[in-house]
Amino acid sequence: MKEIKILKIGGSVLTDKTRLESAKMDAIERICAEVANCRRGLILVHGAGSFGHIHAKNFSLTEEFSPEGVLETHRSVVKLNGLLVEGLRVCGASPVPIHPLSSTLLRDGRIDLMEVGPVVEMVDRGLLPVLHGDVAMDRRRGAEIVSGDQLVTHLARALRPKLVALGTAADGVIFNGEVLSAVRREDLPRIWSQLGGSDGVDVTGGMRGKIRELLDLADAGVSSRIFNAERPGMIERVLGGERGGTAVEGRA
Ligand code: IPE
Repeated sequence: MKEIKILKIGGSVLTDKTRLESAKMDAIERICAEVANCRRGLILVHGAGSFGHIHAKNFSLTEEFSPEGVLETHRSVVKLNGLLVEGLRVCGASPVPIHPLSSTLLRDGRIDLMEVGPVVEMVDRGLLPVLHGDVAMDRRRGAEIVSGDQLVTHLARALRPKLVALGTAADGVIFNGEVLSAVRREDLPRIWSQLGGSDGVDVTGGMRGKIRELLDLADAGVSSRIFNAERPGMIERVLGGERGGTAVEGRA
């Protein structure tokens, strides 16, 4: 198995979260070009933004099972996935879409089953797997939302990547107006009230949800980095190992 890096790009970077299915095409093209430059050994996960979150909310998917909600939410986020896959292909990468609805099973909203073997084979063969936050079947609740962040942490636990980076629309974790260079679990009580939700519709918890996932991952021994993917060049720099944004680390 090659050395692996996992990159997640948040839906707020790729879409206008306040307007249904509104893709920021300029951002998508730039991001695809940056990702294509560092594609070896990379797994890309993206969020849903206004593709997915709005349908999930309209169908109250996190409260009740809705067959129509499952279809519409999935179809929506698959559209965004298609834009990224196509953008990456045009930039010379070899992307392959992976849809969690057909490969992941949840229990109470948490991943219970997700085969990582195909992802590893893809990376080994020089392909770039492109996963996304999705609706997925849930053993207890019928269907639930699996966030891109949860997919990242599941993959990272299984694959122990060299680098885990999460590109957002913020410079990192902001506390009293400053970007924190690192966050650990013991910092949570102090910073919790200032951790934001998200602009627009978000069913997976914004920055708080993200920090929860990443601290659990850090406790399992894998640090990660939250950075601003809206700044041109940052994706390449962070994937190249530069520090920037906020590191989420295990206990000191
Ligand atoms: C949400 O995924 C998936 C759906 C609502 C279908 P994420 O939680 O990873 O999406 P973003 O990054 O917040 O948009």
